[in-house]
Amino acid sequence: MKIFLPVRKSLLAGALLLAATACSKSSDPAPAPAPAPATLYSRLGNVDGVSKVVDSFLANVIAESQTSNSSLKRTFNPLLTSGNAQRVTLLRDNLIDQIGQATGGPLVYKGLTMTAAHKGMAITTQEFGVFGVAFTKALTDNGVKDPEKTELLTIITSLQSQVVGQ
Ligand code: HEM
Repeated sequence: MKIFLPVRKSLLAGALLLAATACSKSSDPAPAPAPAPATLYSRLGNVDGVSKVVDSFLANVIAESQTSNSSLKRTFNPLLTSGNAQRVTLLRDNLIDQIGQATGGPLVYKGLTMTAAHKGMAITTQEFGVFGVAFTKALTDNGVKDPEKTELLTIITSLQSQVVGQ
């Protein structure tokens, strides 16, 4: 038995040395923090991506407003036939800011609350649905796929009670 003792001791010393080497030193730099998950805004392509979706959406609203049995004409016609291009531009800018803010971007929405913006329009659930179709088509046409598509549509849908029936 005695003859094996020195060998065991040296094995133990070696193991301790290895363990000590593997441990980090107090002077080692702290591990880098995990990168923050990308915001929906950045996954949509920042202001350029959001603007493309809003432009397609407004084009879809205009196209739908010109169809027979249009659902959006009733509410959007005053805006579209006013000849006031600045009013359309303001709506565009407000939508970009609103979506930009709601998706985690640095944009700041400065427009009316959803309740105030749609006051007196008496928007129906059916009209809200057609608005949603125009918005969904804009996402599809700009190559926005899940999960971003569902995330943004969830944000839009969550505003329904503030828009419908005002
Ligand atoms: C969640 C869905 C919706 C969002 C996020 C939204 C967003 C907005 C915003 C940001 C404005 C401009 C507010 C301002 O001037 O300060 C606006 C105005 C307006 N919205 Fe909506 N809206 C929604 C649903 C709808 C629906 C369903 C309709 C009609 C079917 C509609 C029709 C209009 C009209 C006609 C204006 C007024 C534009 C003008 O005359 O300047 N909106 N909306």
